[in-house]
Amino acid sequence: MSLLKEQIERILHACKEAFSQAGTIDELERVRIMFIGRQGHFANLTDQLKGVPYDEKKVCGPLLSVAKSEAHELYEHSKQRIANDAVRANQEREQYFDVSAYTPGIMRGSLHVYTRLIEQLEDIFISMGYDIASGPELETEYNNFIALNIPEDHPARDMQDTFWTNVPGMLLRTQTSAVQVREMKQRGAPIAIFAPGRVYRNEQIDATHESVFTQGEGLVVDKGISLSHMLATVRMFLQAAFEDTTLNTRVRPGYFPFVEPGLEVDISCPFCSTGTHTKGCAVCKRTGWIELMGSGLVHPHVLRSCNIDPEVYSGFAFGFGIERMAMIKYGINDIRLFHASSIDFLTQF
Ligand code: DAH
Repeated sequence: MSLLKEQIERILHACKEAFSQAGTIDELERVRIMFIGRQGHFANLTDQLKGVPYDEKKVCGPLLSVAKSEAHELYEHSKQRIANDAVRANQEREQYFDVSAYTPGIMRGSLHVYTRLIEQLEDIFISMGYDIASGPELETEYNNFIALNIPEDHPARDMQDTFWTNVPGMLLRTQTSAVQVREMKQRGAPIAIFAPGRVYRNEQIDATHESVFTQGEGLVVDKGISLSHMLATVRMFLQAAFEDTTLNTRVRPGYFPFVEPGLEVDISCPFCSTGTHTKGCAVCKRTGWIELMGSGLVHPHVLRSCNIDPEVYSGFAFGFGIERMAMIKYGINDIRLFHASSIDFLTQF
């Protein structure tokens, strides 16, 4: 067999192979240039054909021309095949678009842990028929102290070191109890309110003390309100707040000038005690109880300061630190974390 004929067949074979393997338009273009381009293999064969003897030309000429047109056809087919493949791949991608696919690096915002807790507490009190109340953080000495039976020189003022302002008689409120006074003066009795809000104290800051923190204050005044109403309310509310129906409460005598009698409310330690069964761990200092809030029956002086007749009405009040509650509920060991703007801390809740 002539050398040229053999070459034509070999190159056509290689050309078929190369076109069928081209997977992209770029690859196809490379193969096209290599075989049917102006300086490609087939152009080279045409050149060679010119130099062979007549007999060989007679055989190889038609052979080469058929091979060239076959190569051109292959090129067109391959182009169509690659275009079809691309359309199909696109359709499949759309059909199987995964809406739940993992997307790295997206951080979602969320409510601050104490905002969430406050909303939860508000829901609990609203469900018990209370109104949500609030007052200003810049308060009068009268509402924060005097009307609450804490006159000037009263030692109880030392318990709450105060941020005074340049304006005489104005301060940053040290307790949400001031809201009791505002609400009683404005709305009279009967009344049932829950007032969460920010308070300020000029204190040495450590793991359990902040100079800015949040309190929740409850007040109920009506005819015939007694300590038993308070005890039942406080227990129900705390069980709901800690989402634990076995949570137990106990009270001890405590002194707050605006209530009489005054009580400290403890809860059974959520870390080690269940129901009436008390154990003891490091958090509750091995007592099984954690001190959580102050409460008592509203002092007649306070009712009178707010134009409510203590001969007709009586009431109970209670107050607690929201951060303290969150610390116990979520096992947080440092109150400073609440305002530390630490993403690691915040994203846990
Ligand atoms: N206002 C008190 C404090 O900041 C807490 C408190 C105690 C509130 C007894 C009350 C109460 O309503 O009855 O320490």
